[in-house]
Amino acid sequence: MKTTISQVSKYVGQNVTIGTWLANKRSSGKIAFLQLRDGTGFIQGVVVKAEVSEDIFAKAKSLTQESSLWVTGTVREDERSPFGYELSITNIEVINESVDYPITPKEHGVEFLMDHRHLWLRSKRQHAIMKVRNEIIRATYEFFNNNGFVKIDPPILTGTSAEGGSELFHTKYFDEDAYLSQSGQLYMEAAAMALGKVFSFGPTFRAEKSKTKRHLIEFWMIEPEMAFVEHIENLEIQEQYVSYIVQAVLTNCKLELSTLGRDISRLEIIKPPFPRITYDEAIKLLKKKGFDDIEWGEDFGAPHEAAIAEEYEKPVFITHYPAKIKAFYMKPDPNRSEVVLCADLIAPEGYGEIIGGSQRIDDLDLMKQRYDEHNLTGGSYEWYLDLRKYGSVPHSGFGLGLERTVAWITGAEHVRETIPFPRLLNRLYP
Ligand code: 4AD
Ligand code: MG
Repeated sequence: MKTTISQVSKYVGQNVTIGTWLANKRSSGKIAFLQLRDGTGFIQGVVVKAEVSEDIFAKAKSLTQESSLWVTGTVREDERSPFGYELSITNIEVINESVDYPITPKEHGVEFLMDHRHLWLRSKRQHAIMKVRNEIIRATYEFFNNNGFVKIDPPILTGTSAEGGSELFHTKYFDEDAYLSQSGQLYMEAAAMALGKVFSFGPTFRAEKSKTKRHLIEFWMIEPEMAFVEHIENLEIQEQYVSYIVQAVLTNCKLELSTLGRDISRLEIIKPPFPRITYDEAIKLLKKKGFDDIEWGEDFGAPHEAAIAEEYEKPVFITHYPAKIKAFYMKPDPNRSEVVLCADLIAPEGYGEIIGGSQRIDDLDLMKQRYDEHNLTGGSYEWYLDLRKYGSVPHSGFGLGLERTVAWITGAEHVRETIPFPRLLNRLYP
């Protein structure tokens, strides 16, 4: 019976054949333990000299790391293994022999692993992180579909900047200038006026010269946008969504979280409501915590975010930032026009900002004023004003960075491990 490692629980006591790779091996004169993987999971195969032909035992002992194999054996329950099953091997057929696989069980430096990312992905830890990433994506679609959102795909090649000019990737679009999308938001606002509640999920690009553990040049963003939704409701949807994906990972990725050694008690408590503090309160808190030179009007850096997050077990919303340090489209607080109806969501345990969102300006004259202040000249922004001209409504949205969210949930130190092929300041290979 041909099956996969993920399905072996259905075949206890039966003989199965699985297409695998040899992840690792340990052997003595009488027994060989093969760590096998097939993409769906990892299982230990046991070859006992007394139970197989001499030929098979000799083959098992000589197998090299990452050789591909058809392995046949009997499925046994095994309480000692975290996976719960092992395979008593009766036959091994080598499909392709792998010679001198570069990533050995010994420790390797990060740059070496990054140069071999195409192979590093096969390791148990990277496998677990990719499975969690997939579960977050799956739960994202489930959450938004269950809540009446329509998936909309904004363009990647754009004529304008959504989040500020300096971080744009420039390219030629025949005779015109074009930019890789920094955010689909402006287009999602148009879509919200057509479909009510919408969300996007796609790659976004920032030509940022930042070399930190939280910055990628190409990252994936989930961007919901909602007509008739104001600031507070926007925050409620965010805390429900973030809680939903964390709980989905806890339910569906138990083995992966255990492989990663993640402290799940820190995740189990992630349920609405999340704490909220204003920017003003955050400034006071930072001063109290020894950041003496932070002034009202300055943006927060990673150390500030970490110091604020430290005060809370759950992600914390920082709301009402000064308008001058936020994007041109954010709606001013009607009671205090120097701050905007926005929030950044800061993950616990020092993972930093995972969401940026706001209520959007819906007044045409104010938006025109912002265009002047921000020099948004030329025809390419013209269409965005139409959304304020023809049936403008209050609306809000946000963007969740997938990789930073995966880093937080998996406990990965650096976002480079949370995307299959990271694009970093100094890395376009492999
Ligand atoms: O805060 P940002 O820049 O917000 C926007 O782009 C809005 N237009 C979103 C919206 O309202 N629709 O980015 C949103 C999130 C950040 O909180 C962060 O998680 C992630 O995107 N992000 C990055 N992730 C990895 N590498 C980078 N260079 C990132 N820049 C932003
Ligand atoms: Mg932001």
